[in-house]
Amino acid sequence: MKKNSKNALNVFPKIGKKAAKVYKTICSELAMDGNAHLDLGSFSTTKMNPYADKLITEQLGKNFINYGEYSQTKKIQDRIAAILSKLLNAPNHKSTSGTSTLGSSEAIHLALLAHKWSWKKRRESLNQDTAKPNIVYCSNAHVCWDTFALYFDVEPRKVLVYSLNTYPLEEILRNIDENTICVGAVAGNTYTGSIDPIEELNNQIAAINLKNNWDIGIHVDAAISGFVLPFLTLKELKWDFSLSLVRSINLSGHKFGLVYPGMGWLIFRDAFFLPKDLIFSSHYLEKPIETFTLNYSKGASMILAQYFSILQHGVSGYKKIIKRCCKTAEDLRKILKQSDFFEVVDEGILPIVVFKFKSSDSININEFQLHLKAKNWMLPVYDFPGNFEAEKLMRIVVKENLSPEMASQLCDDLISTYQKLKQL
Ligand SMILES: Cc1ncc(COP(=O)(O)O)c(C=O)c1O
Repeated sequence: MKKNSKNALNVFPKIGKKAAKVYKTICSELAMDGNAHLDLGSFSTTKMNPYADKLITEQLGKNFINYGEYSQTKKIQDRIAAILSKLLNAPNHKSTSGTSTLGSSEAIHLALLAHKWSWKKRRESLNQDTAKPNIVYCSNAHVCWDTFALYFDVEPRKVLVYSLNTYPLEEILRNIDENTICVGAVAGNTYTGSIDPIEELNNQIAAINLKNNWDIGIHVDAAISGFVLPFLTLKELKWDFSLSLVRSINLSGHKFGLVYPGMGWLIFRDAFFLPKDLIFSSHYLEKPIETFTLNYSKGASMILAQYFSILQHGVSGYKKIIKRCCKTAEDLRKILKQSDFFEVVDEGILPIVVFKFKSSDSININEFQLHLKAKNWMLPVYDFPGNFEAEKLMRIVVKENLSPEMASQLCDDLISTYQKLKQL
């Protein structure tokens, strides 16, 4: 290897190389990356049908924002938003509103911005102060809730969770006041996959609104579960637009929506909840376009890939895939529970298995993680963000690509690795 070769790579090359050689060079460097299919912590889809790949490749050069030239792609986006609003039980299909985003983080930022705007408008119309907006959510929400508060100058009232899988309802309600732009609820949190009691929250906030003449709504973060819960028949669980105060929901198309990374959705209960002031009109492409987005240009491919997945699988296909993932997750849970080494801590609803060591056998969890990495399994190890002492957690996201055979091999590897470290 040449001296200083690392620095040489950080320089714009003076002359180019043949495409085939460039391809080979990059691929050999990428061979050092982990295997995305065995990344157990990631929620992202890693494989689509070859026809989806073909469609994506053929549409790669399309910039979605140029609605004038690509009006059909825009229609397809709007069609998907309409399909999703029905899936999420929006009461009036004709006046829902929704948009594609790069992921759930962008969708959450846009949604909360809309809540902030509606709150501000209402307060202004009542001649009330708008200097101190706040947002109330739990400490186990995704970091994008914190980034929203920081970037958009809203006080984060982040309520600490006091034990795994409990929801601090009383504390959440105590933090609400006239300056609350909305309350955040999570249907499937990143750490344990648990679903907040959204129906109870809805009813309690409705009573608070009535008592104080406030108009506080709920945003539901369904990044993980938005394409899962509608396909499971859990009649007793209400979490979507069937609840009157749920005004916006985000979903990650690139998670259980079965599309590659770069696909999120924000759906409003009704176009009324997306303030018109936030929609920008620009006219430097072929036709004037109206946008509600944090960025401008983006590829059209993933939107078309989302449409592909919806048409390819239909409701019955999504049901089948999601049920299969849930069944594999259940089998994994059973084996881990029987093993004496692991304690399963997730609620058992979503296809996510979260566990920790049962006893403090002085096994170093990071060493455990490294041994599994040597077997190609990438397993995240993390702390739960609450105000209590808790052991570190590990997560297995059971995606479509994790077959029952792979899951069984994974269990063997988890157990044998634990036993080996214990003997050492
Ligand atoms: C609950 C939850 N919300 C939001 C996000 C952010 O989603 P994205 O990666 O699509 O931006 C994630 C990511 O895993 C998540 O788990």
